Amino acid sequence: MSLSDSLKERWGLNEKQWGNLKGATVATLVTDLVLMVPMMIAIMFVADLIGDNQYDFDLDPWAYVAICIVLMLVTGVVYVYEYNRCFFDVYQESRNVRTGMAERMRKVPLSFFAKKDPTDLTVRMMGDVTVQETALSHWIPALIASLVFTTVIGVMILVWSPLIGLAIVWPIPVAFLMVFLSAGRQKRENRRKMEKMEAVTEMIQESLECSADLKANDATAPYLKRLAGKLDEVEGAEVRSELTMTLFVVGGQLVLKLGIATTAIAGAVLLSEGTIPLMVYIAALIMVGSMYNPINIALQNLSAILMAEDHCERIQEINDIGMQTGSESFDPGSYDIAFENVGFSYDGGRTVLEDVSFIARQGEVTALVGPSGEGKSTVARLATRFWDVDRGRITLGGVDISTVDPETLMGSYSIVFQDVVLFNTTVMENIRIGRKGATDEEVLSAAEAAMCDEFVSALPEGYGTVIGENGGKLSGGERQRISIARAILKDAPVIIMDEATASLDTESESRVQKALSRLVVGKTVLIIAHRMRTVEEADKIVVLSGGKVAEEGSPSDLKESGGLFSRMVELQNGSDAWSLRGHR
Ligand SMILES: Nc1ncnc2c1ncn2[C@@H]1O[C@H](COP(=O)(O)OP(=O)(O)O)[C@@H](O)[C@H]1O
Ligand SMILES: [Mg+2]
Repeated sequence: MSLSDSLKERWGLNEKQWGNLKGATVATLVTDLVLMVPMMIAIMFVADLIGDNQYDFDLDPWAYVAICIVLMLVTGVVYVYEYNRCFFDVYQESRNVRTGMAERMRKVPLSFFAKKDPTDLTVRMMGDVTVQETALSHWIPALIASLVFTTVIGVMILVWSPLIGLAIVWPIPVAFLMVFLSAGRQKRENRRKMEKMEAVTEMIQESLECSADLKANDATAPYLKRLAGKLDEVEGAEVRSELTMTLFVVGGQLVLKLGIATTAIAGAVLLSEGTIPLMVYIAALIMVGSMYNPINIALQNLSAILMAEDHCERIQEINDIGMQTGSESFDPGSYDIAFENVGFSYDGGRTVLEDVSFIARQGEVTALVGPSGEGKSTVARLATRFWDVDRGRITLGGVDISTVDPETLMGSYSIVFQDVVLFNTTVMENIRIGRKGATDEEVLSAAEAAMCDEFVSALPEGYGTVIGENGGKLSGGERQRISIARAILKDAPVIIMDEATASLDTESESRVQKALSRLVVGKTVLIIAHRMRTVEEADKIVVLSGGKVAEEGSPSDLKESGGLFSRMVELQNGSDAWSLRGHR
């Protein structure tokens, strides 16, 4: 593998980024070259002023003015060029990298989000890409440019005067070596810092999401104490990381300072011997200072680049996730859902579904029941390809859904979950999410069918009312009806409802039921419920137990057969009579 390939792989760069890096490096080299010209002119000017014969350039003062004007123009042009290469190109590609990551998020299986915390994803997309961007646009080009110049100038001085050359050059490799050798340590500290920060971000996120629960359980004070502890840890890790970095970088920079001293001494010796004229001595002193300036920065850059590798790795991790792919044309003859010997476990853990087979037919309501934790929601997630099965297969209208692009497949489904996600916009727009581009009339008629009218008319601005962050102003039943209106608007051939009415009181449940009955006509309906009352009108009941289908049949058959279903019905009829006055 060539050096460039190994670099590309290490940094996870695409061709465009690699090209941009080369462009930015060339631009930085050119800029640095142009910036060195004033120094040379200054040396010439001083030489002319002193009037030393050996080093006289005899330029007209006006020539210096002309040179300065030309130089200013050239510098301007070069700056624009550098700006375009280093900022514009690189930043534009960063945008592409970010949108690429976001695109990927659309195609990765949901299992990915179960493992990764959303804050972590945000940090990767924003923070880590920014670090990579700065490395590509600044740190690496600047480091390469300064290395190139230092080598060229260093060799030139060494050839011209080995003693002065040595006096100037010796600290440079020493300083770089110091930073380079400390890289492992710096990386470790940096990683620790990132881990601690991640933990805190997660905790803050969690506290925001669960603030009501924390208050209800009187757990706010201990929680804050724990948070303060974590923040202290972050502070400690941050200080250590900065200190390690500073220690080695500043150490390297101090070594450079020694170079000025050795140059002054070596030059003084040569001057007193008469080997070099005063002019050369002055030139050497000017040179040593301006040679070390870029190296000071290069040392910081080197340290930053070594650190940036970790950030690039985190971006790479996202780009390496397998995407769910499939055909984008999907036109099945019917919409029967069939599970064929499906086996599944989350992340290779406990087997949730062992061997599940059943058919949910188009035009029928199929109810999936079973004790909590038996994998009913899992069945819904697999049917919609939120996750992919481990064994067996699932077909929709005879087509294996693992061959269909997830977004295309989703076009055939309306899903009503127990938790309805609402957005902080108007009721109208919240319903329109069901079908982008639906007219106001269509939205209103779906809302009416879903029995939204009665509560919406009581809102201050009707359908134009903004319903607050995640619909905080609405009750559970109201939110549920909005989500049903979405499903009615979408009018997909398959409806999946996971505990859609589980959290509702009896009155709103009956309203939601009514709305649902309008939604389901002529469709494939898979309904998951643990209230037996809800499923008694289903055409077919599938009882899930022990990762398998324990019973299957019409509600009346199953009740008569005296199996698991009938026992569940009895149990619940009993619990309906439960009262606050105590156990019967
Ligand atoms: N994202 C997940 N990662 C790991 N395990 C999960 C996940 N979701 C559910 N489970 C586990 O899978 C089992 C079935 O869950 P679920 O399908 O939600 O059951 P049900 O809906 O029947 O109550 C449970 O043991 C649950 O702990
Ligand atoms: Mg569930």
